[in-house]
Amino acid sequence: MPEKFYVTTPIYYVNDVSHIGHAYTTIIADILARYHELKGAHTFFLTGTDEHGQKIEQAARSRGKTPAEYSDTISSTFRSLWDHFGIRYDRFIRTTDESHKVGVQKAFATMLAKGDIYKGEYTGHYCVSCETFFTETQITKDHNCPDCGKETQLLKEESYFFRLSAYQDRLLTWYDANEKCILPTSRKSEVVRFVEGGLDDLSISRTSFTWGIPLPVSVGDPKHVIYVWLDALMNYVTALGYGSQSENMDLWPADYHLIGKDILRFHAIFWPAFLMSLELPLPKHIAVHGWWTRDGAKMSKSKGNVVDPKKMADLYHLDSFRYFLVREVPFGQDGDFGQRALIDRINNDLGNDLGNLLNRLIGMSYKYFDGVIVSGQCEKYYSEELKRIQTVIGELDQLMVDIQINRYLEYLWRILSIGNKAIDTAKPWVRMKEGKEAEVQALLGFIANLLAKVALLLHPIMPEITLKMGRALKITLDAASFKSYVTEGQLLADFTIEKVPPLFPKIEAPLIAEASGGISIAAP
Ligand code: MSP
Repeated sequence: MPEKFYVTTPIYYVNDVSHIGHAYTTIIADILARYHELKGAHTFFLTGTDEHGQKIEQAARSRGKTPAEYSDTISSTFRSLWDHFGIRYDRFIRTTDESHKVGVQKAFATMLAKGDIYKGEYTGHYCVSCETFFTETQITKDHNCPDCGKETQLLKEESYFFRLSAYQDRLLTWYDANEKCILPTSRKSEVVRFVEGGLDDLSISRTSFTWGIPLPVSVGDPKHVIYVWLDALMNYVTALGYGSQSENMDLWPADYHLIGKDILRFHAIFWPAFLMSLELPLPKHIAVHGWWTRDGAKMSKSKGNVVDPKKMADLYHLDSFRYFLVREVPFGQDGDFGQRALIDRINNDLGNDLGNLLNRLIGMSYKYFDGVIVSGQCEKYYSEELKRIQTVIGELDQLMVDIQINRYLEYLWRILSIGNKAIDTAKPWVRMKEGKEAEVQALLGFIANLLAKVALLLHPIMPEITLKMGRALKITLDAASFKSYVTEGQLLADFTIEKVPPLFPKIEAPLIAEASGGISIAAP
């Protein structure tokens, strides 16, 4: 039985167009899914859209549309962006899907039957933008949201509550017993501190609007709709059929819930408590990334500095954009997006270190040997280097497991530098003049093997470019090759290398003119 691997992105609100933050999470999920697939796992990758709640209802109204019409339009723009990006999700869930609604209602009924839900009255503040309840002491002096800074509403309405307070100890035990349940682990202390401070019960229904999932009919209280975060979080299990006819929870628990730091509490406190109440296993990792800014400034529509991921990927090549996003910023930290940094990565890391190595290999093999690559001799001359490469490879898996993709790439580049150094040291152009053809053949065999391993290991991050490398090196980038050449360190059979055009043509200047202040990129 292959291992299973289940990764999720947050489901995106349909009140706005997609931006770099959404692309970032989705691309990382795609990388993880592709990586585990290459390692032979049975993977399941879930993404989708979060369509209920007051925020969406308001956004639709302000555009003269019904929430359903509006959600259909924006949800499909997300879906087509992921399709355009070649994101290999297995399921695109919408919280307006009937099967999701059934699952959420089942969860509500289960929690109610267990005594974890009671009826009361909510009095307090609410931020529609964050869809979050706040107490008097949590909001700012001007009654604004402590997270997004927008004005909060004072609510006083009948509501059902979830006994979150009853889960405080069990949550603390879970954090304590599972070192990496929240990644990076530095984020865990923030959550632990918050939970140790005491948890209030959570309002989980609303009556002042209707755009949401109604309570189960059996409750007999039709004016309530379920709180959008309970509705949304449940997507991670309703996507597997939880509560519906086709329930198949074999893939549960999720291996990774990828999220941004702003939605950590919902995922690290509410979600595990809901799961405990439903008596379902808890996710293995909640992996939390930082925030992207644009040339040092917070991105916002009004400033017109929102980075449109499609424009960037189309101009600079999707794979280079993917590489930049995960190489430039350590997972978990905030990062700044700028075209110049992207261009530097493309010209230096990708062009000089990777692309040139392949060019050199192709160029020399045709110049000296009609393109024929012979692997056999490379162990004789390069056994030390091959050993060092396998040692580096041995470190990579843990880095991917811990989502330290920037370090994973840094390590992979160590392998490239072993290759580039080997050529500089061997000086094949001199060796050929001395008639030492066998040595040069060994060198080229070594470089070809090195690049084959790099192509396989880089494939999840740069799926298209590495296919070109695979074409040149005549290897298929699949689980069988991964096992042979990466895991077992086998050598390629002899082959004739195929000429492919340079992978990363040099970029001289930003492809989008930078207005003064560097802000010129506006989402449509
Ligand atoms: N609908 C909720 C998630 C429910 S999951 C059960 C939501 N949606 S969102 O569309 O507002 O945000 C989705 C993700 O985008 C979040 O993880 C958030 O952190 C991320 N980002 C939004 N802006 C971002 C940046 N500027 N940079 C990086 N990520 C950011 O929250």
